Amino acid sequence: MSSTAPRTLWIDAQGRLLTRDQTLLPFEDVLLELGGEEDCARAIRTMQVRGAPLIGAVAAYGLAFALRTDPTDAGLARARDDLLATRPTAVNLRWALDRVSARVAALPAAARAQAAWSEAAAICDDDAACNRSIGLHGAALLAPLRRAGAALQVLTHCNAGRIATVAHGTALAAVYALAEAGVPVHVWVDETRPRNQGASLTAWELGDRGIQHTVISDNAAGLLMRQGRVDAVIVGCDRVAANGDVANKVGTYLKALAAADNAIPFHVACPISSIDPGTADGEAIEIEARDPREVTHIRGRGPQGGMVEVQLTPDGSPAFNPAFDVTPARLVASLITEHGPTDASPEGVRAALGRSAAEG
Ligand code: MRU
Repeated sequence: MSSTAPRTLWIDAQGRLLTRDQTLLPFEDVLLELGGEEDCARAIRTMQVRGAPLIGAVAAYGLAFALRTDPTDAGLARARDDLLATRPTAVNLRWALDRVSARVAALPAAARAQAAWSEAAAICDDDAACNRSIGLHGAALLAPLRRAGAALQVLTHCNAGRIATVAHGTALAAVYALAEAGVPVHVWVDETRPRNQGASLTAWELGDRGIQHTVISDNAAGLLMRQGRVDAVIVGCDRVAANGDVANKVGTYLKALAAADNAIPFHVACPISSIDPGTADGEAIEIEARDPREVTHIRGRGPQGGMVEVQLTPDGSPAFNPAFDVTPARLVASLITEHGPTDASPEGVRAALGRSAAEG
């Protein structure tokens, strides 16, 4: 499968690896050149790039850069460990590093950097194709939920859109596929405190695509569901355990609970690269704890137009900032992989992995 959709990570005519600095969106759309391993690691750590599939792709290029400097086994192991340490929860990071490592392991040192670069490019191509497929499968699941005469009302949390991936997005790929098919669709966008990926990034990219949307405070979703104003919830994921438990942006679990209480289907867009069969269940997933300052302060556009940060909490109030949570498999209607929807259960996860191994 191939895809010609605009990419979030690309090589320009001069051979430079480019992306967008997501810490500046939606106010400034600034290109960021990733010129070496340390640039890639820093971009992931500081969340200039974010979203599980995108950080995997950037890490793959980071490893390729590192091999240009030191293609030995020791160099490969050191760079892999350093890149892996940038963020702990999304398994796509480890998946991509392992894919590049496996590609180059048996090669002579002199051939490794070029092979790693080609593998990183293949990861990007595969991500674009995979997400397009997730979008089509997701659209097929969601379209029948539209009520006659009304737009389909979809709620999403965080940003699982094109800028969280190489192209298309995962959860939002379904929305884009619906719109392309002419299905009227409106997206309720959770703001997604503390970093506001919904308010800043999802709203930006939906607006860019001309998709109807409304930003809501995170706490409003339950009310809207009770009022019958949400037909389906679709989110992305950072890691799916062998039993179907799903780690995603903090707050996802509360949306799943509210959806279950209101008999609203809660779907998870889930590339095979986000499934971690080596993690038995959600309890075993490491949850990233980020700087409490993201809770005590908030960033946005100031009166002069530049980014400013303001304090929300009293001086000295402690804060705690887990970046992800775990939604138990029992609350998930389906995991939508590139091979189609599957149950969030040990059997469903095994079946998806089996299909992936068979279909390649
Ligand atoms: O902390 P972030 O912004 O990297 O978290 C992103 C999410 O939680 C996304 O929902 C997830 O990575 C899926 S992206 C297709």
